Amino acid sequence: QDRKLWGGRFAEATDGLVELFNASVGFDQRLAEQDIRGSLAHVAMLGQVGILAPDEVAQITEGLHGVLADIRAGSFEWRLDREDVHMNVEAALRDRIGPVAGKLHTARSRNDQVAVDFRLFTKEAALDLAGKTRALRAVMLAEADRHLADEVILPGYTHLQVAQPILLSHWFMAYVAMLERDEGRFRDAAARMDESPLGSSALAGTPWPIDRHATAAALGFTRPTANSLDGVGSRDFALEFLSACAILSAHLSRLSEELILYSTFEFGFLTLPDSHTTGSSIMPQKKNPDVSELARGKAGRVFGNLMGLLTVVKGTPLAYNKDLQEDKEGVFDSYDTLSIVLRLYAEMLPKTVWHAEVTRAAAARGYSTATDVADFLARQGVPFREAHEVVGGLVGTASRSGRQLWELTDDELRAAHPLLNAEVARALTVTESVRNRASFGGTAPDRVREAVRAAKEALTP
Ligand code: ARG
Repeated sequence: QDRKLWGGRFAEATDGLVELFNASVGFDQRLAEQDIRGSLAHVAMLGQVGILAPDEVAQITEGLHGVLADIRAGSFEWRLDREDVHMNVEAALRDRIGPVAGKLHTARSRNDQVAVDFRLFTKEAALDLAGKTRALRAVMLAEADRHLADEVILPGYTHLQVAQPILLSHWFMAYVAMLERDEGRFRDAAARMDESPLGSSALAGTPWPIDRHATAAALGFTRPTANSLDGVGSRDFALEFLSACAILSAHLSRLSEELILYSTFEFGFLTLPDSHTTGSSIMPQKKNPDVSELARGKAGRVFGNLMGLLTVVKGTPLAYNKDLQEDKEGVFDSYDTLSIVLRLYAEMLPKTVWHAEVTRAAAARGYSTATDVADFLARQGVPFREAHEVVGGLVGTASRSGRQLWELTDDELRAAHPLLNAEVARALTVTESVRNRASFGGTAPDRVREAVRAAKEALTP
């Protein structure tokens, strides 16, 4: 146990439990690469502006590379008594190169150090998830394209009651649209957090003649943050990342719910691949959609991570408070969780088999073309509200006798309305129903083909 880097004013050693409670090295060692990158940029700048001599810069730079090599090799000893990643790296540097290591921390505080490390991490994570979201979107687009050739029909639902037939490809394209926005949210967040807080120092800036623009540029940031209090005290970049994660998780959870439901014996719309399902230890017949259930369940913890950090931040006065040390684990966890869920779905969806006869038959039941019959009447001049009433009566008649609309007799149809002639049979088919919904953004095959084409273009770099 060495003397604390901040130990000057203390007469008594830190209590053991306090040390344990206070330490973040258990999780923030994940920021080691970013921490050393930040230090390398800082020390180079200290040399450029003449605060450190060239040989000091050289020693510190070489030492930092040595520490980084140890960390990468797994031979670095992370010490709890050194509290966090920053002081572990700095103390290891001192062990390596001696007291000159102490000059690295000139014109810098751990407050701007952690802020810059965490921004670097979160920006990379946001861009990485943007890429993985894009990859899943490409997979779903390919699925939309694949099922377009056969014009596979799926029941469309509202309130989980059969509503109107749609193309399976149209369903896939709905998720393509959501994922496109999700990717945009990650990229927007990355662009907004693209400012370097390094040089904000503890909270108020520093009397040293530092060059914040130089360190910002060296670290790949567009510019330095404009206000030092904001630079060290704000975590909305992490909140924005977590918000984008939460919304993406909500989308993936809805997808999961649909896949779980549609793979049941009762629906039988699809078969999930053996490689991405699991069995039961007691019931030999079981094939469980665990991946989708976990994807749905893990949305809960991703939401929790967002809510957790919002709650941490809301009561903290400016600028840095130790509460902010709680900002990291939720970001790491959300990033890891979504990285794996996005990859799993990208692998699983192309291996999922859709049963076109089952989905088509299901799409035809439940009076899914009732709106088409009402439109059939309305096209002949009957006010839509009246047509709605007439067809509602027909659905009542049919359901009371356990029949579908196409099983009603010509007499029954004519009795309901004189304009309901033999031609209405066409309006009752799912193929016709889908073909007719040719409004922009609708499910008609030609429209979906256009949408697929546009989505492919949007994905072409
Ligand atoms: N481990 C701390 C964190 O993650 C680093 C900053 C500590 N600064 C301080 N003044 N205690 O937030």
